[in-house]
Amino acid sequence: MASPSRSGVFAAQTDQRLEAYAESITFDSRLYQQDIRGSIAHAKMLCNVGLISEEELTRICEELENIRGQFDRSELPLRFELEDIHMHVEQALIDATGDVGRKLHTARSRNDQVSTDIRIWIRESLDAIDALLLDLQRAFLSRCEDDFDVILPAYTHLQRAQPVLAPHYWLAYMEKLERDRARLADCRRRVNQCPLGIAAVAGTTLPIDRQQTAEALEFEGITANSLDTSSDRDFVIESSFVLSMIASHLSGWAEEWILWSTVEFDFIAIGQEFCTGSSIMPQKVNPDTLELTRGKSARVMGALQTLMLLVKNLPLAYNRDLQEDKPPLFDSFDTTRAMLELAIPIVAGAKLKRDSIAARIEKGYLDATTLMEWMIRKGMPQRTAHHLVGAIVGEAMSRGVPLAELPIETLQGLSSEIDESVYEVLGTQNAVAAFCSEGSTAPHRVREQIDLWKKRLG
Ligand code: ARG
Repeated sequence: MASPSRSGVFAAQTDQRLEAYAESITFDSRLYQQDIRGSIAHAKMLCNVGLISEEELTRICEELENIRGQFDRSELPLRFELEDIHMHVEQALIDATGDVGRKLHTARSRNDQVSTDIRIWIRESLDAIDALLLDLQRAFLSRCEDDFDVILPAYTHLQRAQPVLAPHYWLAYMEKLERDRARLADCRRRVNQCPLGIAAVAGTTLPIDRQQTAEALEFEGITANSLDTSSDRDFVIESSFVLSMIASHLSGWAEEWILWSTVEFDFIAIGQEFCTGSSIMPQKVNPDTLELTRGKSARVMGALQTLMLLVKNLPLAYNRDLQEDKPPLFDSFDTTRAMLELAIPIVAGAKLKRDSIAARIEKGYLDATTLMEWMIRKGMPQRTAHHLVGAIVGEAMSRGVPLAELPIETLQGLSSEIDESVYEVLGTQNAVAAFCSEGSTAPHRVREQIDLWKKRLG
């Protein structure tokens, strides 16, 4: 059977190899719900403006619902000569209703149709991702009370830097996820503009009502320029960027917890239900889920590159290249979704290894900067204090002790400005308690933030 898109102008049959090369039904069939929903809205509009009759509308809608059922049950055969989801739905309608079905494509092109379908699909998918991001934030928040009294090292350059409360870590991830959610909401606004009715590229001479279809499909408005709309895939790329940023956050977190679950760090135990064993080494409990999260993030970021490259040299307006947007788009949503679905229970269920953390928390001079700031409060210039504390740390290192274990005579030998009260800021407990600035790990600041997040997330 010949493709419905081959008009009377064609004298030659399609080469079989082109049919297999050009088809997209093997991946865009997942748009059938959106395609049928768009077609019903379009048909209703055609009826309202008098381009089809009430009877024709009823017949079209009935049959489109039938076709939806056939797709639900995977009953409709997929045929390469019908290329894509749009022509599968339309041909099924024509097969069942004849000339009535032949009217559906009035004032419409697959160019505005595909853009409508993807926008609806992305909109739904962004909402699903947002719900998962919220669940992941809730998982981090759920840890904050129990872990409140645990002090962890904060790292820069992966070297021990300053002491922080464990919930300060959890809140750090909640902030990243909050920015992800804000980006997502912003991206959704641009996704949510209705292209239906720009037809192929220039609009239509028929008296359609674009506002009506936009409203029926719950779009916020209609796109303004037919040339732009026919070519536009910014919204695909933007959503792919939003996902890439999420993937990057998840990958960094996964890497951190992989490190934390090594014997070397020994900070955290990930639920064994999310770990795998070794076929040869009986002692192994590997954090494969997190490694896969780190690995799968590459797919999401790779999709963004693919999409950027896909559009960069395209003249206005629709070009068939754009059909290649769907595999990376679908894959990046599927992958991000799977990553989040596993991150949520892992975050909620992992256990901090308190004893192991505490046993080494006084190593690495996490209180050195606090000591320097204590000297500054005594009136010493920062650079002088920085140099002095370096010397004090050097002395402690050569003795193999933490700062809090240096005798007062030794400290006073290095600076006459030091008195006994210095011990009030030494040691990680004291050092954490000494913080005060907004956004810091000061216990009362962390408490404020936890309370704020509890209110925000409800
Ligand atoms: N399957 C195509 C796509 O995904 C449909 C768009 C219209 N095709 C066309 N030859 N104008 O982009």
